[in-house]
Amino acid sequence: MAKVKTVFVCRNCGVDSPKWIGRCPSCNQWNTYVEEKIVVSKTETSSISKAASSKPLPLGNIEPEKAARIPSSIKELDRLLGGGIVQGSLILLGGEPGIGKSTLALQIALGINMKVLYVSGEESLEQLSMRAERLAMKNPQCLVYNEVNLENIMNQVEQEKPGLLVIDSIQTLTTDIIDASPGSITQIRECAARLLKLSKITRIPTLLIGHITKDGMLAGPKLLEHIVDAVLQFEGDNQYVYRVLRSLKNRFGSTSELAIFEMEADGLHEVKNPSEIFLSRNNIPQSGVAIASTIDGTRPFLIEAQALVSSAVYGTPQRTATGYDTKRLNMLLAVLERKAGFNLAAKDVFLNIAGGLKVQDPATDLAVACAILSSTFDQPIDPDTCFAAEISLTGELKPVMRIDQRIEEALRLGFKKIIIPDFTKSKQYSKSHQDIRVLTLSKIEQAIREIFSNKSKNEA
Ligand code: TYD
Ligand code: MG
Repeated sequence: MAKVKTVFVCRNCGVDSPKWIGRCPSCNQWNTYVEEKIVVSKTETSSISKAASSKPLPLGNIEPEKAARIPSSIKELDRLLGGGIVQGSLILLGGEPGIGKSTLALQIALGINMKVLYVSGEESLEQLSMRAERLAMKNPQCLVYNEVNLENIMNQVEQEKPGLLVIDSIQTLTTDIIDASPGSITQIRECAARLLKLSKITRIPTLLIGHITKDGMLAGPKLLEHIVDAVLQFEGDNQYVYRVLRSLKNRFGSTSELAIFEMEADGLHEVKNPSEIFLSRNNIPQSGVAIASTIDGTRPFLIEAQALVSSAVYGTPQRTATGYDTKRLNMLLAVLERKAGFNLAAKDVFLNIAGGLKVQDPATDLAVACAILSSTFDQPIDPDTCFAAEISLTGELKPVMRIDQRIEEALRLGFKKIIIPDFTKSKQYSKSHQDIRVLTLSKIEQAIREIFSNKSKNEA
């Protein structure tokens, strides 16, 4: 007999409750509960889910898994995953609509040298064929399948036994055992859980595509994060050609890694030298621009902070940051005001990180502060200088991690001077490196004096 149940589910984190709640007790978000009706029938249609039962074993008896990895044909992706796609893993590929998830998935399906089952519930087979033509790639072993019913998909997987399964997307799937609409939280969660079981039993790696909206809501990948083995998320603006793929979770490798791709007419291309694209080094000095040597994941790259400071038109000055945390920007402005004596209270401040990149590395602080002052004074910073230092609330320059890598990257791109915090332990670079001058300073005031030597505080 089928049982009908009404539950209220948080759209943000997936916690359910028998009653509607205004604020989710788990993730503290307001107004996220939606009502869902679930019909659970006891009949299981696939034999795979029955085969799942196994016995507990002593841990010592179990051979450690030599995770067999399959190269995906995209080197940057393999690096992100920790050396390739692990057999039996469930990988979630998330991102906003139109960012390139299907493109990347099809590139993998066509580039990999094995049988692939590409299930698309979003696009027709003709659309997929058009995309394959655009990519100019062929894999005779790639099967495409237009289906949204999970039971049918599982049957096909059992029959075809592919080496890789692609599901585009989890939001379109429905399973017979639950009577809820596709894309609802209960459907997404149930389908993902059953796909996990499938991949663990058959050892077939599964690439699961999931949409997120601008605020990461509604579509559900947030609640899938617990279920899957790895979460890769596409970031970037549709207006830019660059796409950052970040690993937010990885059971078989390190997280906070990233890979950069460029979307072109024939698909996504790996970007091997990110610094070269994020800098617009035309060597014409411009005010309001400062270069930071940052590290994201394990990769160093140089980015350009652009600031515009102008007199506030309204009573409350505007502070807008793109690609940078607005709270951090406000903090830096307060430090510049209190510790370095610049009066920025009546100024609008706009900050932009070039290339549509989002930076979180605190070592970007000094470059951001210098870009703001450069715009304030309308005085360009020497284009051969770059920065790597965190600024504390007391106005001190705090040491940052992996300084050698940052200096090396600056050197590689032809910078002549880098300003770093004092007390930073650099093994290789002494203050008198012949190709790059490494200047160590301890306070923001010193950095300002060094860069804007002929400016006094009163001019701000
Ligand atoms: P898509 O992969 O369909 O995005 P998602 O699956 O994440 O929704 O494609 C994203 C955009 O990329 C689409 O607007 C068209 C563009 N595109 C290219 O620029 N070049 C290409 O080779 C392809 C296939 C798509
Ligand atoms: Mg798509």
